[in-house]
Amino acid sequence: MNINFLVNNTLSNDIGIDIGTETTLIYIAGKGIVLKEPSYIAYDVCSDKLEAVGSKAKEMLGKAPSCIKVIKPMANGVISDKDMACKMIGEFIASILQKTILKPRIIASVSMGSTQVEQRALCEVLKEVCARDVYLIEEPLAAAAGAGCDISLARGMLIADIGAGSCDVASISLGNSVIGKSITTAGDAFTNEITQYVKKNYALDIGFLTAENIKKQIGCAYPFESIRTMTVYGSDITNGMPRMISLSSEEIREVFDPLLLQIAEIIKTTLEDTPPELQSDILEDGILLTGGGAKLYGIDRRLRMETEIKVFVTENMEECVINGIGSELAKLDIPNNQTTKFYYSL
Ligand SMILES: Nc1ncnc2c1ncn2[C@@H]1O[C@H](COP(=O)(O)OP(=O)(O)OP(=O)(O)O)[C@@H](O)[C@H]1O
Ligand SMILES: [Mg+2]
Repeated sequence: MNINFLVNNTLSNDIGIDIGTETTLIYIAGKGIVLKEPSYIAYDVCSDKLEAVGSKAKEMLGKAPSCIKVIKPMANGVISDKDMACKMIGEFIASILQKTILKPRIIASVSMGSTQVEQRALCEVLKEVCARDVYLIEEPLAAAAGAGCDISLARGMLIADIGAGSCDVASISLGNSVIGKSITTAGDAFTNEITQYVKKNYALDIGFLTAENIKKQIGCAYPFESIRTMTVYGSDITNGMPRMISLSSEEIREVFDPLLLQIAEIIKTTLEDTPPELQSDILEDGILLTGGGAKLYGIDRRLRMETEIKVFVTENMEECVINGIGSELAKLDIPNNQTTKFYYSL
């Protein structure tokens, strides 16, 4: 056990954080996942007073009086409102972290599509909240490690992490992403597509939570064994009156199809750009899907049809990234650790 390990684990807590567009998860070294909350914040626009964060804030979505604004400080996998992100993360960390002599070191995940400026903004937010040092890890690398893959091997793997704001795809070998790509076609895009469809075809306005519920109940990428239907309530766009409609899983499947083709396309282009030796490993082992978006019914079968490669999902797909970060926390003090070189500190 080296001196750095002793100092860092007795005088402070190392923290892992996955600030997703929809969900924030926090991991404390030695304890595991200590927080899983929706990435939402509610505040009073008149007094600027913080009303709620996490699930309490999400519950207010579409139901709060006009003076209370409910927002997601993350969009498309990156920080879209730095002030609000700072407040939200500050509240989350304060709720789980005990005071220690040294400030914590933090490993945070980043989307493959994030720019240097966006990554710096994330580091600055974490520094402002409490971090002594910030280390970053690309989401697919963390997701693969969290799904139990040994990412340090000289063996090609292809991971697609389908979150709410971004779909991050990477081929991985020797603890590195060899080719990485990202698109914003992910969970939120599917939800928004339902909202647009219902508005256009049924002249009905529905809220984000209703659309998300439709996606989870009857949304599919491959037909269910028997067609599912769902009664949906919304507001008639012609007269503003409440009205009810019935939606079927087959019509939602058609609505989702163009988005699924976009996801299949980015997986295919990532594979095409991957060196041949790694391609053959991927062909043998298949493609791993992680992230909440991978919960969409039949997405593995649909993507297999498009890519003609085995596609599989893991258990706890929403927790793969944070568990991967957790396993990297344990390696922060190992000298010459293969994977730590992929983080950088401010
Ligand atoms: N059963 C389900 N069917 C379809 N989609 C689902 C299901 N359960 C969760 N989701 C979707 O998964 C997404 C959230 O996944 P996840 O928590 O991995 O995203 P995130 O990490 O917050 O986002 P990102 O990584 O893009 O910033 C949401 O869009 C949610 O609606
Ligand atoms: Mg995510």
